[in-house]
Amino acid sequence: MAKKTVLAAFSSDIGIDLGTCNTLVYIRGKGIVASEPSVVAVERGTKKVVAVGEEAKRMLWKTPGDIIAIRPLRDGVIADLETTEKMIRYFISKVLQRRWFVKPRMVIGVPSCITDVEKRAVIESAEKAGAREVRVIEESLAAAIGANIPIFEPAGHMICDIGGGTSEISVISLGGMVVTNAIRLGGDEFDEAIIKHVRQVHNLIIGESSAEDLKKRIGNATADKKIEKMEIKGTDAITGLPRRLEIDSVEVRDALQEPITAIIEEIKRTLGQTPPELAADIVERGIVLTGGGSLLKGLDTLISNETGVPAFLAEDPMNCVALGAGMYFEYEKGLRHENNIYRNL
Ligand SMILES: Nc1ncnc2c1ncn2[C@@H]1O[C@H](COP(=O)(O)OP(=O)(O)OP(=O)(O)O)[C@@H](O)[C@H]1O
Ligand SMILES: [Mg+2]
Repeated sequence: MAKKTVLAAFSSDIGIDLGTCNTLVYIRGKGIVASEPSVVAVERGTKKVVAVGEEAKRMLWKTPGDIIAIRPLRDGVIADLETTEKMIRYFISKVLQRRWFVKPRMVIGVPSCITDVEKRAVIESAEKAGAREVRVIEESLAAAIGANIPIFEPAGHMICDIGGGTSEISVISLGGMVVTNAIRLGGDEFDEAIIKHVRQVHNLIIGESSAEDLKKRIGNATADKKIEKMEIKGTDAITGLPRRLEIDSVEVRDALQEPITAIIEEIKRTLGQTPPELAADIVERGIVLTGGGSLLKGLDTLISNETGVPAFLAEDPMNCVALGAGMYFEYEKGLRHENNIYRNL
């Protein structure tokens, strides 16, 4: 116990949000020290890593034949374990540039749908990269801690983390998850829906980054009086020639309807599974939204209108998981404290 206390005094806790789109690293006392896309560029045959993060993302759709850029966590599953390990090691070594006096403790927030084998691999990679102790926790629990939700209260709180590849909805009370539902659907599907729409309606093939641009700049989940327009470029599906097209926010909203409806249905399902007493608390306190996908304009309003429960964005929605992971050990202390309180009642 005494040894542990001494170690804790000299080391920092590190929180990592291992997201399908972005990986973030948070160090207590320092803040967010890394935030880069979860992309790795490797040599085709040898699988040697050429670049990770920002640099690798620039190569994603424009790689020369012998280099491939991979998103190893795409869709919320670890599609490529070996590359994921390399990516974790890159991020950790980036923030641990000097040799630390005492190895840090790490908490990694991962999508709740990953398997135990995948979790084990994540833990091992972090250990190999220099962690003294590693914990893997669900994204939505980390998000709730990071969003400063008073999770120890004997009251229900709902958190909905809409990421790139996954959306996780949880009800938390007394520091524990009462209900959790996750679907492999997030902001990436919004982009894919836009690509599909533009191809079907306008015979134009556009890339993922153009679709993402459209979504972020003029995407709106609710009907707005002001109709916004944006010009995009792509390849004509019939002639094969490059072409420009002007598209407006009404069309983008129509394109996004299917994936947005699926997320709202999942929220409704989770509300339906919530014990009535906790549901009453949620109606009063509202649904807290985190993750980059929740930044889609008007999504909070649409969720409120469709569920009848107020929904609002957390402060810093994209940083909540990393922040909460970094604060997890403190949370655990609180949990032990709460358990003692209840045991003594
Ligand atoms: N302003 C914005 N409007 C709409 N979507 C946005 C905005 N900013 C970011 N996004 C979307 O957020 C998604 C990435 O969010 P985030 O970084 O939370 O995902 P992640 O944590 O990597 O993924 P996951 O949680 O599924 O593992 C992308 O689809 C991106 O296009
Ligand atoms: Mg996430």
